[in-house]
This record gives sequence, structure tokens and C-alpha cells, in this order.
Amino acid sequence: MRIVLLGPPGAGKGTQARRLSESTGMKHLSTGDMLRGEVASGSELGLLAKEFMDRGDLVPDPNVISMIRNHIGDPSGVLLDGFPRTLIQAMALDTELKFANVPIDRVIHLSVDIDELVKRLSGRALCGDCQTPYNLESDPPSKTGICDRCGGPVAVRNDDKPEAVANRMKVYQELTAPVLDYYRSHGNVAEIVATGSPDEVFEKLSQAIRSGKSGVMAN
Ligand code: AP5
Repeated sequence: MRIVLLGPPGAGKGTQARRLSESTGMKHLSTGDMLRGEVASGSELGLLAKEFMDRGDLVPDPNVISMIRNHIGDPSGVLLDGFPRTLIQAMALDTELKFANVPIDRVIHLSVDIDELVKRLSGRALCGDCQTPYNLESDPPSKTGICDRCGGPVAVRNDDKPEAVANRMKVYQELTAPVLDYYRSHGNVAEIVATGSPDEVFEKLSQAIRSGKSGVMAN
């Protein structure tokens, strides 16, 4: 199964993809997590990506596509979180899937209003090792600065500062919203209002996947 999770920064894509991956065994592919891993390792891609990420801009398409390409055909199924984010990335995904002769089974759009998004991101902290997200006000780790899940360091992301958040929202509208329209034109998008508790959103998400139509092949 191949599922694409789309939604603005802070919509809960990572939170829900982790839960879904744990409950289904599908591989969670987050380009944001992968890029943060590259930055942490100091790789050539990480050095290039950091500048874009800290500003809240997208990392160039060719770098992101070549980073994720080999993972898309994973036989356990994949949950794509944060990819594709531009029309060029969506076309590249179509090409990879067509080559592998597998469809996208479901595109799920998580929508949340802008005030709630800004609130979520301003309180967000992330484990640097396993990438589990926390909210310092509503869902903090049990021990300050330490991940409940793996014991790794929990810190605020550079791109959750107000200027970078504002730019990420703008970039989402300009470059990623057209991807949503592209998938809507294929008629395979499940719309979910991703407010309420993470458990409630997960229930809606699971329901949307259970009731999904058959997959739509790339043109
Ligand atoms: P990425 O890591 O993908 O960031 P994003 O899309 O901006 O999404 P977020 O991680 O901020 O939010 P999310 O929707 O996953 O929400 P989360 O579950 O964390 O990308 C970062 C950067 O990498 C990009 O800006 C770009 O530079 C680069 N990049 C990545 N992919 C790229 C690509 N394909 N092409 C080019 N560049 C790329 O939740 C957010 C907070 O809300 C958490 O605190 C969480 O605990 C809380 N929360 C979650 N659900 C709920 C709920 N139901 N109620 C209350 N709080 C909740």
C-alpha cells in the first residue's frame, strides 16, 4: 500500500504517520526527518539542506528526489509524509510508481486552521534521535528535554521560530497547495479535518484508509 499524507506545517502528518506505521507495519518515509538526519550527520546533502530548512524554504527538488527515490518501492508499503511537496516531485513520484507498477492507494489531506497551526508549532519540540514530536504546553516529555520513547534529546527546531514558520506557511500555499489540486483532479483525496485529539484524528484517518477506493495509477 502507498499512502501520501498532505497538509500544512503542523497539521500532524508526522504524529499520525508514526501511529499508522506502528499499527500497520508500513514504512514511514518523512523527507523532513531524512533531511534532519542528513543535517545531523554533517553530510554534503545536510550542509546544503540546512540553509534552506532554517529559512523555511524547500530543499531543491533534484536533491530531495534522489534522496527518497530508492525507498518508494519498499515491499512493506510506504507512508509518504512531506513528499511530494512540489508538482515536480509529484511527477517524479508518478514516474517511480509507474516503473514499479504500483498505484498510490490513498492521498490524505489533513486540514487545520492557521491559528491552530501556529499555536502547535510555537510549542513544538522534537526528539533529535527518533524524531518523536512533543508539545511543550499540551504534551511535554515526562522528563524535561528527554524523549519518553528513546531517551534522546528533545529540543525546539530551528525552523519553528516565528519568521521561519511564516515562510513555511507561504511556501506551502505557493508550492504545495497545487500538489493537492493535482491529486484532487485524480479523484483520490480523502479530506480530514485534523483537529481534536491525536487519537480522534487517528480514528478518522484509519476510517478514511479502510473506506478507500481502489488505487489510482499514475498517468
Ligand atoms: P517537515 O519536517 O516535513 O516539516 P513540515 O511539513 O513543515 O511539517 P511539520 O513537521 O512541521 O508538521 P507535521 O504536519 O508533521 O506535524 P507534527 O506531527 O510534527 O519539513 C521540514 C523542512 O524540511 C521543510 O521546511 C523543508 O525545508 C525540508 N523538506 C522536507 N520535505 C521536503 C521536500 N519534500 N521537498 C523539499 N524540502 C523538504 O505536529 C506538530 C505539533 O502539533 C507537534 O507538537 C504535535 O505534538 C502537535 N500535534 C499533532 N497533532 C495534534 C493534535 N491533533 N492536536 C494538538 N496537537 C497536535
